[in-house]
This record gives sequence, C-alpha cells and structure tokens, in this order.
Amino acid sequence: MTELFSPLSMRGLEIPNRIAVSPMCQYSCETDGLPTEWHRVHLGSRAVGGAGIVMTEATAVEPRGRITPHDLGIWSDDHAEALEPTTDFIREQGGVPAIQLAHAGHKASKTRPWDGNVPIAPDDGGWEVLSPSPEAYPPFDGERPAMTKADTDDIVGVIDAYRAAAERSLAAGFEIAEVHAAHGYLLHEFLSPATNRRDDEYGGSFENRTRIVREVVDAVRDVWPDDKPVFVRISGTDWLEGQAAWDIDQSVRLASDLADLGVDLIDVSSGGLHPDQQVAAGPNFQVPLAEAVREGTNVAVGAVGGITEPEQADALVRNGRADLVLVGREFLRDPYFGVRAAEELESESADAWPIQYRRAVR
Ligand code: FNR
Repeated sequence: MTELFSPLSMRGLEIPNRIAVSPMCQYSCETDGLPTEWHRVHLGSRAVGGAGIVMTEATAVEPRGRITPHDLGIWSDDHAEALEPTTDFIREQGGVPAIQLAHAGHKASKTRPWDGNVPIAPDDGGWEVLSPSPEAYPPFDGERPAMTKADTDDIVGVIDAYRAAAERSLAAGFEIAEVHAAHGYLLHEFLSPATNRRDDEYGGSFENRTRIVREVVDAVRDVWPDDKPVFVRISGTDWLEGQAAWDIDQSVRLASDLADLGVDLIDVSSGGLHPDQQVAAGPNFQVPLAEAVREGTNVAVGAVGGITEPEQADALVRNGRADLVLVGREFLRDPYFGVRAAEELESESADAWPIQYRRAVR
C-alpha cells in the first residue's frame, strides 16, 4: 500500500487515506447560508470520488462572517439539520465529513467572484464588517467596505459564535472541525501585525495578537468530543517584506501553542491578507511552510497548494513532508481524483470505485 492510501488515525477517528478535499467556497446558497442541492451534490461527488476527508467550504459562524450573501453558514439549528444528509452521504461513501468554521472579518460583505468581488454597502443588501483595526486596512480588492472595529463584546461574541457553531457541526454529523485562521479573514487579521494595530490585550505582542485564535480554539475544543480531531488552517506567511507582518517563525510558535490546546493538525496555507504580497505560486509552493511547522512542533500538518498529481501527493506523505494532502482545484477539475490516484498508485484499486461504477473499471 502506498503512503497516500495508508489510513491516518487521529484520536478515535480513522481517516481512510491522506487525501482531503480542500475547503472551497461555492457561493451557491440561495437563502441565509442554508445549503442547496449544489452543496449536497458537490460534496457528495467528491466523497464518491475517493477523498478520505471531504471538507465544506468556509462556513460562517455568524451572518456577518460571510464573504458574500451566498456563503454557507452554521449559525442556527436549521443550518445543522440541512447539512445532515450531506454528512450522512459522505460517511456512507467511506469518507470523513469535515467542516471549516469561518469568519470573514473585513473581507466580508462582497459580491461573488463572478459578480466582481466588490463590496456591498450595508444599505444595499450588505452589512458592516468586523475588523481588529479599520484604520490599518489596505483594501485587498476593490473599495474599502463599511467597518466596525471589534470591541471586547464583539470578540466575546465571535468566540461564542465559534463555540455554538462547533456544537451544531457535531449535531450535523461532522467528524472534524477546522478553524479558519488564514487568508486574511478575521482571525488572520488579528494574527498579523500588518492588519492588527490594536493596543489592548488583543494587539501588539505575539501573545496578544494570537489571543483570539487561542480563545476560539479553546472554545471549539471544549465542545468538540475528545475522540474527534480539530484542525486549524493558517497562512504560514503573509509573503510581505519590509514591514511588520506574519511569518513562518510566528506560525511555528502558534502551531506549538495550538497543539498544547488540543489541535490535532495544522493545515498550512499562506497569504491572502495584503495586496502587496509577493507569492510565487506553483507546484508544492506552500509545502516548505508545512514542513517547517512539522519540524518545529510535534503536530501533524496538512500540505496544500499546487498539488495535482497522485505521485506528487504520495511523495509528500512518503517523504515525511506532510501527514495529509489537501487538494483544491484539481478536485474541481476531477471529482474522482481520489479514485484516479488509487488507480494510478495502488495495485488493488478496483475497490476504490463505488460498486455502482465497477463496470467502468479497467
Ligand atoms: C478556495 N480556497 C479556500 N480556502 C479556504 O480555506 N476556505 C475556502 O472556503 C476557500 N474557498 C476557495 C474557493 C475556490 C473556488 C478555490 C479555487 C479556492 C483555497 C483552497 O482551499 C486551496 O487552499 C487553494 O485553492 C490552493 O490549493 P490548490 O487549488 O492549488 O489545490
């Protein structure tokens, strides 16, 4: 058996292989963050396609935490109930259902990418967005939206929203909760000195900038059962030179703190915070960041970004560079990437196909 298809045991969970569908927004809700047939078919297809973990898109813990009015949410019991058939289906296919819990912070209240990704004013169907320090924000794209600087009540509200979202995710049947602390969204905005200019206990020192992430993770871990894993997605670096920013050394330090709080895997992405970022994207471009976290801590890591080939994915696990491989766009091009990888890499691969499709097996 190849390393990519060796199971990964975490707490009481056995993940059947090392391939995960990376969280990807579908902007396909029609009302109030509730899933539609699109979500069920989209996530369900990737479970049929052999992914060990099928993770939802960034799922907002409160309405103002959505990037667009069409994002998925989990701020009510109705949301949890509506997601349950999807988690059941993923499990029936042998996959592990995971949810990414998110708050978009100052990158919220935008139109969908195919509608231009422009801010929507509060009086035009949008809302006031939350940020650690409005005066410090360089708009990532388009104009600056209307902002509220988070006061202590807002911060407590966000932490409570994450806790309640985790409870509902559990009720919905998810086995893994991932806290989204990457890509310039709310939690990353607190982490990075490029966007956090606060002078209270949530800004300034490393200890203070990371406080909200530790408190959110603590709240999630508190309600998430001991036998189920918690992941955190971070941006390993802001890719910014010549100014105060978030970097890999801080990421390693944070990862170690999060492991102490009971986080089981750090999903290492990068960037998304600042328009001046200098990123050289390409195959495996974020893997060195994941490796650094793995080497600097005892925590498992997920590698993501530019992973498109089965052999490439297997090599990452085989060479000890990552414990899990998250695949994004290749899973959009090919929902059966997991089965295709099994066909390419495994001698006994026929079982990878669902029984309904076996007549197609070569
Ligand atoms: C993304 N990505 C992303 N990341 C995340 O943490 N939460 C999200 O909801 C989304 N949404 C999203 C939508 C779409 C359409 C794309 C293409 C990407 C980033 C994604 O998870 C992944 O990290 C990147 O795409 C890099 O991996 P690939 O695509 O090179 O495998």
